[in-house]
Amino acid sequence: MKQQGLFITFEGTDGSGKTTQIRLLQEWLQQRGYRCVLSREPGGTVISEKIREIILDKSHREMDARAEALLYAAARAQHVAQVIRPALEGGSMVICDRFTDSSIAYQAYGRGLGEDVAAINEFATGGLKPDVTFFLRLSPEMGQRRIEGRQQDRIEMEKMEFHRQVCLGYEELERREPKRIIGIEASDSIEAISAVIRQRMEELLSCR
Ligand code: TMP
Repeated sequence: MKQQGLFITFEGTDGSGKTTQIRLLQEWLQQRGYRCVLSREPGGTVISEKIREIILDKSHREMDARAEALLYAAARAQHVAQVIRPALEGGSMVICDRFTDSSIAYQAYGRGLGEDVAAINEFATGGLKPDVTFFLRLSPEMGQRRIEGRQQDRIEMEKMEFHRQVCLGYEELERREPKRIIGIEASDSIEAISAVIRQRMEELLSCR
């Protein structure tokens, strides 16, 4: 039977530099002969990208927090069924910009929805969990500074208190799952961050 691919996710607040590290990891894996599928959440399929537009639309100020959590979960369910599971089963490495941890940080902590968020995501993903998650840690103040001047979406435009709660959510996740979630200071240099990621990937690939 074909060996399953690894499911690798990146997490962190906006402005933490995930995109650069995702690109570097993709290059590194491809140079070693691994097939890679790159994706993002919310998004990654036609349906999920449409849901993304609804969620992030700045004019949707009236969006209820539960509706928001369910829309993220719906986009994720489609993404898992259509892209992530088939790619992993086909032996590809899947690198995804955000996954369920984002919903725990932003909806469970940021919006204060609590434990229900984990439950709806368990349903949405059929229990799929990343093999490894790289969490780029950045203070909310620094995060806001880094995205100043950029076009901001509905979530990014939230108050500083919301972003503080999101950071607390990520810290709690890191404490709960230290084996899966590798926290790295986002203020470190690009090379230093990338070295930590490669080292963890070497370990994971060597024990397959
Ligand atoms: P992006 O800017 O990383 O593409 O993500 C879009 C926004 O959606 C970002 O501000 C984080 C937020 N988000 C959630 O609130 N919950 C989620 O489950 C995901 C995937 C993203």
